[in-house]
Amino acid sequence: MNDQATAPTKSKVSRQQLEQLWPELAWIDNSQLREAVTKTWLLAFERSPLLPEDLNTIPFTLLVANCPTSFMEHKRCVVHIAKDAAHAMQNFMGKALKIDVDTVIAGAILADVGKLLEYEIKDWKAQQSERGELLRHPFTGVALALECGVPDTVCHIIAAHAAEGDLVKRTTEAFIVHHADFMAYLPFKNANNLKK
Ligand SMILES: [Fe+2]
Repeated sequence: MNDQATAPTKSKVSRQQLEQLWPELAWIDNSQLREAVTKTWLLAFERSPLLPEDLNTIPFTLLVANCPTSFMEHKRCVVHIAKDAAHAMQNFMGKALKIDVDTVIAGAILADVGKLLEYEIKDWKAQQSERGELLRHPFTGVALALECGVPDTVCHIIAAHAAEGDLVKRTTEAFIVHHADFMAYLPFKNANNLKK
């Protein structure tokens, strides 16, 4: 059995460090939800070979060669896009669509938390771990979040934010996070879009 799954480890990241990494946690109004999201990230760091500072240097994806944008730059950008998109949709289409902004923000903050178990650093480079090859981050992300009491509506966003979610009936909140994530990812797949 992979001992990463069961080994009880002491937290190597403080709440203060996490709040510095993720100032957007403060945007979640519901204190119970904010606490569950915070716990999920702390648990992910406990079980990850990565440190908070690694997230400012490793690329946000391994699917783009020499990706020039870091994990945190990408993730925070997605949270900002998702929140603004949720507000715009609420303002213009709120009569027709029910949108829970807290759920959008929590889902966007947690969408890639599983990458802490999917990635490892070898020879100063991020690569997919053995576990990551078997279980991509939407799966490990949901496992971590459920353990920390994150509600199903938010776990659904983690599960459905990437290509796996194309097989699922996404909620409105999950559509928002999915598109925010992909609009901040797809331009990188075309090298012509990058600054020379
Ligand atoms: Fe992802």
